[in-house]
Amino acid sequence: MCNSVFSYVIRKPLQGLRNLVSKRAFEEENVQGKIAIVTGANKGIGKEVTYELANRGVTVIMACRNLEAVKESIVEIRNKTFLGTLIPMQLDLASLESVHNFVTAFKARFNHVDILINNAGVMIPDKQTIKTREGFEINVGTNFLGHFLLTNLLMELLRKSDFARVVHVSSLSMKYANLNYEKPLEINIKRKSIYPLGYCNSKFALALFNLELAKRTSNLNVRTYCLCPGCVYTDISDFITADWIGVLQRIKFLQKYLLLSPSQASQSIIYCATAKECARQSGELYRRCKLWGDSVYPDDLFVPGDLPDLNDEDAKKLWKASEKLTKIDTDSLYL
Ligand SMILES: NC(=O)c1ccc[n+]([C@@H]2O[C@H](COP(=O)([O-])OP(=O)(O)OC[C@H]3O[C@@H](n4cnc5c(N)ncnc54)[C@H](OP(=O)(O)O)[C@@H]3O)[C@@H](O)[C@H]2O)c1
Repeated sequence: MCNSVFSYVIRKPLQGLRNLVSKRAFEEENVQGKIAIVTGANKGIGKEVTYELANRGVTVIMACRNLEAVKESIVEIRNKTFLGTLIPMQLDLASLESVHNFVTAFKARFNHVDILINNAGVMIPDKQTIKTREGFEINVGTNFLGHFLLTNLLMELLRKSDFARVVHVSSLSMKYANLNYEKPLEINIKRKSIYPLGYCNSKFALALFNLELAKRTSNLNVRTYCLCPGCVYTDISDFITADWIGVLQRIKFLQKYLLLSPSQASQSIIYCATAKECARQSGELYRRCKLWGDSVYPDDLFVPGDLPDLNDEDAKKLWKASEKLTKIDTDSLYL
């Protein structure tokens, strides 16, 4: 009784309100039969994106580090739709070797890729000393450098598509970044931020990557998009125990009612991957299925939502530094 009163008086109106701000009707390209890669497809927002794409008839490669966890996700998705094809493949973005192995395995099975969703991410506190396999700071190494290498190694196959779209899942938290463009792994921990600085830097780096990638692909049939999915109820902040995110952790049951659901958050990614109205755009930032600057959102209560300052020179410097760190020469990929 108490539960259903709570549901009708609080949960349903809140859900309705969240739907209002997260959903927006848009006309879509027909993506049936397209081939997509979704990193971090086994849970959270990535799992919902995988479901949405499969439900549109897409073959989705679920690029995940834990293939056991993917099995459960496939069962869940298959309980909702029998459309599309789901193919789990091993990818650990915290290991450059694993990224190379993934691309080699992918190329052995497919001759092109239409949609690449760079979604996987970690949010690890700055004070923790966890590193990637190559000894990189864990947030920047996984969220940015792993995807930088993945996208470049897949460029040849993206160029073979007549539809190629690359979608980077960034975050509003990039506003707190303090990125050294020539040394992206450095963290100035004296700077105050409500999110771990390594995380903010990784998300800012993705936005700069998006900018430079758009320049390099401007004469090619490849479009690139970067977005913030909103504040979403997932496991991403489970490592954080201090500050306001730590407080949110302790009242996790309330997050369900206050934050967006992964399904609602997936809409911005589906927008960038399929919408007709952004088909000619490339290198832009998005929120809630719109260009970032086009509206004001409730998340702005947490972090000021004005556009972050992105510039071409910084993006170029970061690209060069990232090439060195990931040991890849990209110039020939964009000729
Ligand atoms: N939730 C939010 O409020 C929010 C806001 C802004 C942006 N985002 C972004 O949205 C994206 C999805 O996050 P989420 O909220 O859905 O979090 P989540 O539920 O924790 O999902 C993160 C996904 O990334 C995967 N992943 C982590 N490290 C990986 C690695 N080394 N190699 C391959 N995959 C790895 C995880 O795999 P495992 O299951 O193996 O850990 C999981 O599938 C992230 O990029 C995040 O930064 C989220």
